[in-house]
Amino acid sequence: MALDTSPSLRHRIDADTYADPDAVLSKLISNTKLSAASRADISAAAAQLVRDIRGSSAPGLMEVFLAEYGLSTDEGVALMCLAEALLRVPDADTIDALIEDKIAPSDWGRHLGHSTSSLVNASTWALMLTGRVLDDEHPGPVRHLRAAIKRLGEPVIRTAVSRAMKEMGRQFVLGENMNSVLEGAANMVDSWVTFSYDMLGEAARTDADAKRYHLSYSRAISAIAAACTSDDIRKNPGISVKLSALHPRYEVAQADTAMTDLVPRLRALALLAKSAGMGLNVDAEEADRLALSLEVIDRVMSEPALAGWDGFGIVVQAYGPRAGTVLQTLYDMAERHDRKIMVRLVKGAYWDTEIKRAQVEGIDGFPVFTRKAATDVSYICNAKTLLGMTDRIYPQFATHNAHTVAAILHMAKEREAFEFQRLHGMGETLHRLVMEQNETRCRIYAPVGAHRDLLAYLVRRLLENGANSSFVNQIVDENVSPQVVAADPFEMLESTPAASIPKGPALFLPLRENARGFDLAHTQTLEAIYTARAPFATHQWAAAPLLAGEVDTRSTPQPVVNPANPQDTPGTVRPATKADVATAFDAATIWSAPLAERRRILRQAADIMEDRHGEIFALLAREAGKGLPDCVAELREAVDFLRYYAAQATTTPPAGIFTCISPWNFP
Ligand code: FAD
Ligand code: 2OP
Repeated sequence: MALDTSPSLRHRIDADTYADPDAVLSKLISNTKLSAASRADISAAAAQLVRDIRGSSAPGLMEVFLAEYGLSTDEGVALMCLAEALLRVPDADTIDALIEDKIAPSDWGRHLGHSTSSLVNASTWALMLTGRVLDDEHPGPVRHLRAAIKRLGEPVIRTAVSRAMKEMGRQFVLGENMNSVLEGAANMVDSWVTFSYDMLGEAARTDADAKRYHLSYSRAISAIAAACTSDDIRKNPGISVKLSALHPRYEVAQADTAMTDLVPRLRALALLAKSAGMGLNVDAEEADRLALSLEVIDRVMSEPALAGWDGFGIVVQAYGPRAGTVLQTLYDMAERHDRKIMVRLVKGAYWDTEIKRAQVEGIDGFPVFTRKAATDVSYICNAKTLLGMTDRIYPQFATHNAHTVAAILHMAKEREAFEFQRLHGMGETLHRLVMEQNETRCRIYAPVGAHRDLLAYLVRRLLENGANSSFVNQIVDENVSPQVVAADPFEMLESTPAASIPKGPALFLPLRENARGFDLAHTQTLEAIYTARAPFATHQWAAAPLLAGEVDTRSTPQPVVNPANPQDTPGTVRPATKADVATAFDAATIWSAPLAERRRILRQAADIMEDRHGEIFALLAREAGKGLPDCVAELREAVDFLRYYAAQATTTPPAGIFTCISPWNFP
């Protein structure tokens, strides 16, 4: 059984990270061949589901809350920020400052009485009163009274807001520990409903964290084993794990160490799951870990002792243009190792993070689609691909969107060949109706754990549901008609213009072009950097003062030693003498070139530095022992300064600014 851990796996997966979304989508659409009539049938079935959901039961507290306080309102954003930060602030003073910062400036009164839920209206009252109490703008005795209430009331406000946030968290968590959860779940399970338990906790910071999470997964598998009573693994509960919980440096820069530790940890859990007769699913996380995760999965899948186990599960995110390649890679992997695996198709829970990260790093593209309809279309097309891979793959369709569900029901021939999945606290009515009408299976992803580990998961739920494009947000808004909620995403893709989310290079336009970014987890980018750096691996630089006058030749060039490798000397530096400094001051004048010329020179300097990044990275690494992230940060900072000052330059140069645009001593 050959492994596919050669660089080519990473290479293949990363080739399309920043692929042109239109090209990817048009290929997906033409391969899927859904006729206009099929698409109309799907939308009609989905609109009926929307009517049924609205008519069947009242929406849950979380849905109502998010419908009122979605991300399109300032108050919603304030609440998201608060939820994101509150749970990890250790001291009371900072909690009070945070609440004041986030709650006081918002217009809570606007939401009063809007919601269909009296609980949400009550929360609005609470937030409004809190906001008023905290609002110091109003002068006079009222202000003093408020100041007094504020002083007396801070612990009360703190407790109330913390409770509200905890209550929101409780919507998404099944319980605090596995034993109590299993007792409760026993009443909810039948041959069509089961669970995939998720032990809260991810992104281990230390090896001790990773060991704690590993132990907690192992214990959970042992506890769940008792509930695995069926011979058919698909009917048994399972577990979902996050690789980021199992290693503190699960990242491309530490790939070797991560592989050494992660593979045995995941293998041990998989062996336990196999002996329990249950599925073990590897959740998908950030896009920059995707290729590495597939290498880990490939290694674990090759383990001979796992032969005959059909429970190894992998999550694929449809919002990434690489989803199709990943599905094909997993299918090939299963063939190569002669395994049957499970694949959960999701849209993806890290959309905001991916967008922000790509922008901050100045990357010229996004690893995810930027239109919601594109993700929906990608999901449906990749679902069709999965339904054609059932000889090796058991498809698990995880979505709360009635249109997506209707599309799968339309495309799937056999109800037995796949299952639906939903998150605990979401999509309950949709999936109950679908099960009743179609006798499909449903697995509930159920987070278990303590409140301190909930934060990242909670924020992802708030972000995805708070967006007004999300299905959960639209289903509770009766102003949005069922036809609109269930609109055909293929049609929307054609008829609505592309979203204008600025890419990294355009972030500061029209003021200035952003400094070029480098994705250091992207195989092809890394290879290009290594190639650009290679000619300077043994290069000898000779740095000396660059003066608009005679250089003093009396100082002796001093050898420079690479602090990360004392055998390496990148060259020499000849320090400036007092005479050099005097020459520099004597020659210094106000830079009186015309504005356009000054700007052109500053911008050209930035461009030259970017073009010569290979040499600059080599020099920074060899002279100062810098790692690549620091090299990139240093280059980007220098380039950004140059472009920033070019943009800020005015017709009259301020007195005292000297000509100095040569941060490196380049010939
Ligand atoms: P919809 O409202 O139809 O879709 C919302 C999604 O659309 C967003 O989450 C985002 O992915 C996408 N989107 C939103 N705006 C845009 C935009 N402007 N451009 C492009 N795309 C956009 N997620 C993971 O990442 N990893 C996992 O391992 C994982 N496991 C899951 C397990 C289960 C059982 C379930 C139900 C979900 C899981 N998820 C996971 C979360 C999942 O990604 C989200 O719940 C899902 O995206 C919501 O999709 P939807 O079809 O329910 O809702
Ligand atoms: C998440 O943790 C459900 O895996 C998904 O957001």
